[in-house]
Amino acid sequence: MISIYKAKDYKELSRKAANIISAQIIMKPSCVLGLATGTSPIGIYNQLVEWYKKGDLDFSEVSTVNLDEYIGLDATNEQSYRYFMNYNLFDKVNIDKLNTNVPNGMARDLEGECDSYDSLIHSLGGIDLQLLGLGHNGHIGFNEPGESFEKGTHIVDLSESTINANARLFAKKEDVPRRAITMGIRTIMQAGIVLLVASGEDKADIVRDAFWGKITSQVPASVLQLHKNLIIVADEAALSKSPVTDNYTVLR
Ligand code: F6R
Repeated sequence: MISIYKAKDYKELSRKAANIISAQIIMKPSCVLGLATGTSPIGIYNQLVEWYKKGDLDFSEVSTVNLDEYIGLDATNEQSYRYFMNYNLFDKVNIDKLNTNVPNGMARDLEGECDSYDSLIHSLGGIDLQLLGLGHNGHIGFNEPGESFEKGTHIVDLSESTINANARLFAKKEDVPRRAITMGIRTIMQAGIVLLVASGEDKADIVRDAFWGKITSQVPASVLQLHKNLIIVADEAALSKSPVTDNYTVLR
């Protein structure tokens, strides 16, 4: 089933998506959340922290697995995804840090790190809910156009478009790492629920192409059309080129 929530703006989007994550935690306190970095989820994490502080959410039994990490950046580097997660969520709620997992981009044996990340997800019983942002070229995690749908966690060379998009967060473009570890599309498709968020007019073309276009590895997110439980939460701007009229739509 694909359900789409249309939010007025980023604030409403963040609240709706945070609501879905909260429902997952309340229904299963020991759930496994797959988490994302980037601009899109920041509002969601802020909202979850706010509800935690009010006493409405308890992360004590929650485990997390993040989608991806740059190769060559350690946890103390402000641009690393581990740093991002600690800063935006883990340091602000009562999650046990030992239950938070981000691929180790500093591992000496990177292939081994990929294999053990997949084993870890398996040993946790799989991902209950995977949060995703959407790249302008349709990437999910760091699965770039042309990537096979069959892969588990693996090493990727980042595309020029992703390096350019991420350069805004670095002092200069040359500082953006060229490689990353990412969960593969197979890993993502195995999650019980996939929650994809997209905000802003600059995402309108790719939202339309990914969810109303044909399923092709040239648009990695298009494979999510085949997921059994995909929830899209997007704002009006991101849905402005898609045929969605109601605030809540079930596609199929
Ligand atoms: C982040 C990730 C990426 C982002 C995507 C969208 O962990 O895996 O796929 O979700 O690049 O990024 P934003 O949200 O910054 O537009």
